[in-house]
Amino acid sequence: MLNKNRLRIAIQKSGRLSQESIKLLTKCGIKINLKQQQLISFSENMPIDVVRVRDDDIPGLVMDQVVDLGIIGKNVIEEESLRRNIDPKKILYTILQRLDFGSCRLSLSIPISQKYINLKSLNNFRIATSYPYLLKKYLDQKKINFNFFILNGSVEVAPSAGLSDAICDLVSTGATLEANGLKEVEVIYSSTACLVSRTGDVSDIKKILINKLMTRIQGVIKARE
Ligand code: PRP
Ligand code: ZN
Ligand code: MG
Repeated sequence: MLNKNRLRIAIQKSGRLSQESIKLLTKCGIKINLKQQQLISFSENMPIDVVRVRDDDIPGLVMDQVVDLGIIGKNVIEEESLRRNIDPKKILYTILQRLDFGSCRLSLSIPISQKYINLKSLNNFRIATSYPYLLKKYLDQKKINFNFFILNGSVEVAPSAGLSDAICDLVSTGATLEANGLKEVEVIYSSTACLVSRTGDVSDIKKILINKLMTRIQGVIKARE
């Protein structure tokens, strides 16, 4: 249960955002003693608890008010909103701050040898993805017919394994695509990490703490510019 007096922040356990998230919190002066397998750390110098989970679980934890704050890619929170089919007027989270790391794009990629003219080249393709809702929203808007199936990891292997014609997955440096003989043909969503907060009642103690944290985060980002 959420403690009224201690702020609970969810960050990615391992992956592209984890080290940067820890670095940011540390630079904000939060002393966190993270041990490899220990998934929660209670800061000693500030009333803040850091929970380390899979990135895909963070939007749900924030929207269901299980944690107060989360550091997560904008694409992941957008996918979860689409999945929950949330009425845009019924806000379930607030983006407090765009962060200066974790930038990536959600893109459609196909085998290097495949000819590509425009999106129509993908008509009736079978696409492997971890982001079915963002993919569907985009291709429906562009009136492209497609089939999809979900892979939550190793998406890049799908075309060479004969499972799909294309993939829709995150690209950061492009190294994973290259290693799997794929080329990026369309960017469908651009993302960075952001700090999000839950909605609902928040105690005054937490409000003060969040404001303090925000000021420090902005300071850290400014200093890095
Ligand atoms: C993404 C994506 C690719 C990789 C691309 O995974 O799924 O596998 O990064 O990066 P590159 O272009 O620099 O090679 P992510 O780190 O988001 O982890 P996850 O999919 O396991 O959550
Ligand atoms: Zn993930
Ligand atoms: Mg991945």
